[in-house]
Amino acid sequence: MSLSRIEIAKIISILITPVMIVLSVLQSLYNKFLRSENVKSIAGEIAVVTGGGGGLGRAISMELAKHGCHVAVVDINYEEAQKTVQLINENYKVNTKAYKIDITSYDEVVRLNKIITDDLGKATILVNNAGIIAFSDIFKPDPIEIQRMINVNLTSHIWTKRVFLENMKEVGKGHIVAICSTGGLGPFPLSSVYCSTKYGVRGFMRTLRVELRMDEKCRDIKTTTVFPTVMDTNSGVLDDLNKCNWNTIFQIQSGVSVAYRIIQGMLRNEVNIGVPALEIPYMKCIEFWPAEIIDRMMAKTFLSGLKNSLGKQLK
Ligand SMILES: NC(=O)c1ccc[n+]([C@@H]2O[C@H](COP(=O)([O-])OP(=O)(O)OC[C@H]3O[C@@H](n4cnc5c(N)ncnc54)[C@H](O)[C@@H]3O)[C@@H](O)[C@H]2O)c1
Repeated sequence: MSLSRIEIAKIISILITPVMIVLSVLQSLYNKFLRSENVKSIAGEIAVVTGGGGGLGRAISMELAKHGCHVAVVDINYEEAQKTVQLINENYKVNTKAYKIDITSYDEVVRLNKIITDDLGKATILVNNAGIIAFSDIFKPDPIEIQRMINVNLTSHIWTKRVFLENMKEVGKGHIVAICSTGGLGPFPLSSVYCSTKYGVRGFMRTLRVELRMDEKCRDIKTTTVFPTVMDTNSGVLDDLNKCNWNTIFQIQSGVSVAYRIIQGMLRNEVNIGVPALEIPYMKCIEFWPAEIIDRMMAKTFLSGLKNSLGKQLK
């Protein structure tokens, strides 16, 4: 039996996978604990933070301002975006402004770029953070809510990249940060739509890197994809976790500490950031397990949590 070159390459890839896993673990630990603090300066650059009026988005906006970066705080909730701007103004000497925009609309994103350019200058840092995490009814979500989650969590990344990448190409530098999730690395029951959007973000960012390599003007545009587990930023998520007893499964991180880690990693041009550090290699290892085992394990864990909280309603 003779093997084709593709088949030989596949066999070699499989054989060296354990080595790659060990390297990936070591890289995560190195990034977290040993890499130097800063490698690039973002002072004077202009960043757009979507969902900047919310928990993690606000913390990221503050962290960017701490490094001298001007910040366009974008949110559908204008009052909360203004609060972020106020906090930045009270603490840092950078230019900042709040923008009420629905990032699911391509036309609004085009308009946003125009007004930010007039107000602050050309934005060359894009942080795609806005996201919808939970439905009002987790068992039978409303189709309108489902569509909205897809639009906010995934489609908006495609619109904003299309619009703001042009600014970055003009100056030959820039950085696109995407807030993904552990839900983009593994199958979490009752979150199939959320996980689909986050798997989508992961695929989008992964492919984007290859596309950037293909264009001479994009060689210095960097990307960072972030995979947080659970944060204290969204009270709805914390309530759901408490209700279902899942707070024992996940380690809850503070939004401020995650934002610190994100900007630290961005300044060092880290490609992927797991929070906590070993989350990405851990989830990737689990992907190698037979699907039947993972299905049973996940379903059992989540069902027992639900039964504890909902009792007789769930048989
Ligand atoms: N909270 C967690 O435990 C957790 C875990 C993993 C990943 N994440 C991801 O982190 C990101 C931030 O989460 P968070 O906890 O800060 O959420 P949050 O709900 O506190 O903030 C999200 C912000 O996005 C804004 N937003 C929603 N729709 C918008 C739209 N159409 N246009 C503009 N702005 C819009 C909201 O008004 C809000 O201010 C999300 O992408 C989320 O999926 C969160």
